[in-house]
Amino acid sequence: MSEFVSKNLAVNEKGHLTIAGLDTVDLAKEYGTPLYVMDEDLIREHCRSFRESMEKYYDGAGLVCYASKAFSCKAMYRIAKEEGIGIDVVSAGELYTATCVDFPMDKVCYHGNNKTEFELRMAIEHKVGRIIVDNIYELELLNKLAAEVGVKARIMYRIKPGVDAHTHDFVKTGQIDSKFGFALETGEAFDAIKKALSLENIEFVGVHCHIGSQIFDIAPFVEAANVMMGLIKQVKTELNHEITELNLGGGFGIKYTETDTPVPYADYMDKVSETVKALCKERGLKLPFILIEPGRSIVAPAGITLYTVGGIKEIPNIRTYVSVDGGLGDNPRYALYKSEYDFVVANKADKAKDSVVTVAGRCCESGDLLGEGVKLQTAEVGDTLAVLATGAYNYSMSSNYNRVPKPPVLMISKGEVKVAVKRETLEDIVRNDM
Ligand code: LLP
Repeated sequence: MSEFVSKNLAVNEKGHLTIAGLDTVDLAKEYGTPLYVMDEDLIREHCRSFRESMEKYYDGAGLVCYASKAFSCKAMYRIAKEEGIGIDVVSAGELYTATCVDFPMDKVCYHGNNKTEFELRMAIEHKVGRIIVDNIYELELLNKLAAEVGVKARIMYRIKPGVDAHTHDFVKTGQIDSKFGFALETGEAFDAIKKALSLENIEFVGVHCHIGSQIFDIAPFVEAANVMMGLIKQVKTELNHEITELNLGGGFGIKYTETDTPVPYADYMDKVSETVKALCKERGLKLPFILIEPGRSIVAPAGITLYTVGGIKEIPNIRTYVSVDGGLGDNPRYALYKSEYDFVVANKADKAKDSVVTVAGRCCESGDLLGEGVKLQTAEVGDTLAVLATGAYNYSMSSNYNRVPKPPVLMISKGEVKVAVKRETLEDIVRNDM
């Protein structure tokens, strides 16, 4: 067992941190810092474990769709395609990237609370498998666009099931006060379904919910499945229409620090399948095709970010700032959510963590921190600093603030390093300037 938060991390004979067996200090030297490093084999293992749980507990009558907002680039869509899973996209940019690797469009779910006309047209022209409609305006627009393109749009509805997901307020989405989806308890969802069923160019296939992110309990997922099956039953009884698909979203928690206690991924499908099967039997419903949308849990534990330590500022009786050559541009999650991470001085990974510091980024912004109260080996200028479990919502949320070029992404597969995304250059920074 690894002593680190992710099982692909270890310490080698030089006392250096390794990822997927490769020396992180060597990687930093060869490719420069800041640097994202992803373990492709672990990503694939996660894809398989979700897919197998669908096969084992739900007889394969479903589809795992990787929520690609967590980490999106051509290499990642290729992996999802090869592993036989689908994807969730939320923008023309993500959809376009997927088309670049010929991703099978019938396995794509298109999400978003305010998709543009351009994006909706693009989705139907590419025949994406499911467009997850968020509101009536979008439904009507889609009906019109589908008529123009000469197709029927296959849609699901995003529903707010009113389930409390016990997670950070910023990533909670299932409650009534949310910008996403149709409310259940007010009857809004039911009325909207009635309307969708009456529209000529709409094929209404199912209902979707996503209750939040970084959730460690199985209970809220079971509760959400329960509530959604209630809606399916109501639609059958009152509208004589059998909904055939149920999408339960993502949100499965991962281990960022010692205090996080994730549930084995297969356990979610085990319990959710049990609930759905029992409810169908009890209420005389057909088993729906189930979709799930794990994002973070597929990629977060597979990634780390490497930095080089620069200035160190000791403010007596206050704190010590250890500054690195990246920051909120490549990882805005501490600035946004105070998200906690584990940190390791990669070239001293065998040493005890004998200091407590604030890790600061390089941006002109006091809030540009990667962590406070961070336990760390004594850091010195030139050390390589690793931030662990950064594979999700880091590269995908990165920006060019202060006109800092984005770091590259390396993918390690079977001991081989591939550059999945090149480091941005200064020319890239001015590419669109006139
Ligand atoms: N499905 C839908 C409809 C979603 O909105 C999301 C995430 C997922 C699936 C995937 O959730 P996951 O399995 O990754 O938890 N930027 C935040 C997370 C925002 C999540 C947004 N939606 C963060 O860095 O924590």
